[in-house]
Amino acid sequence: MSSWGLKNRLARIIKPQTGRTVMLAVDHGYFLGPTSGLEKPGETIEPLVQFADCLMLTRGVLRSSVDTAVDVPIVLRVSGGTSILKELSNEGRFTAIEDAIRLNASGLALSIFVGAEGERETLLNLAALVDEGEKYGIPVLAVTAVGKEMARDTRYLGLCCRIAAELGVHLVKTYYCENFEKIVNSCPVPVVIAGGKKVPEMEALQLAFNAVRDGASGVDMGRNIFQSEAPVAMIQAVRSVVHERATPEQAYDLYESLKNGS
Ligand code: 5RP
Repeated sequence: MSSWGLKNRLARIIKPQTGRTVMLAVDHGYFLGPTSGLEKPGETIEPLVQFADCLMLTRGVLRSSVDTAVDVPIVLRVSGGTSILKELSNEGRFTAIEDAIRLNASGLALSIFVGAEGERETLLNLAALVDEGEKYGIPVLAVTAVGKEMARDTRYLGLCCRIAAELGVHLVKTYYCENFEKIVNSCPVPVVIAGGKKVPEMEALQLAFNAVRDGASGVDMGRNIFQSEAPVAMIQAVRSVVHERATPEQAYDLYESLKNGS
């Protein structure tokens, strides 16, 4: 079976020019409901999409809130089925591969919960999704989460990333932590980081800088972009770190000047 399609889709997500990506994550509603900054997803996405290398979102938001003429690769979240009111790790699949193909997805994203109640189920769901992705040439991104009582450190996040890679994924998303390079070095597929909770812009730019410095292939960032005081300025500042190797200080200067329209 030819892997040309899969590689081509992956190259739409991770830009070959730099080997990196700025993914815009706007999938939070699938378990959080109307997240702050994403109450009207279409209005949030519209000004940002031109600066995103790809969008990570659910089919519901894609269909309802993204213009079909927009030329942006889609990484479609296909796992969920739980809410913040219940045990989050009990996720299942909510989108069939046929629908992902109809939606022209460039990638599929599924969460795994290592060390949590849903560990086995989510890992086996991931493996099944990789089989389907391989069949149709669509790469799979594993979104890694660890049990509530586990530290987000190299031991647990590293375990999670490596397991995802062993199950066959093409890309892993995890959190940045101390000694992050250990995670990257023990994970044989590209790693991108989530931004996490909103922090001041300079801190978020420092996080992105540290991650790519330590070997990440980019970011899959949500709240630190769309909850920023100036989201359009912020995504461009993040891009400068990821693709142009700007320092956090240079990127922050860019953020300030774009925000102030100078
Ligand atoms: C949740 C997700 C989110 O997309 C992810 O957390 C990225 O967003 P943020 O940068 O806001 O953390 O996959 O499972």
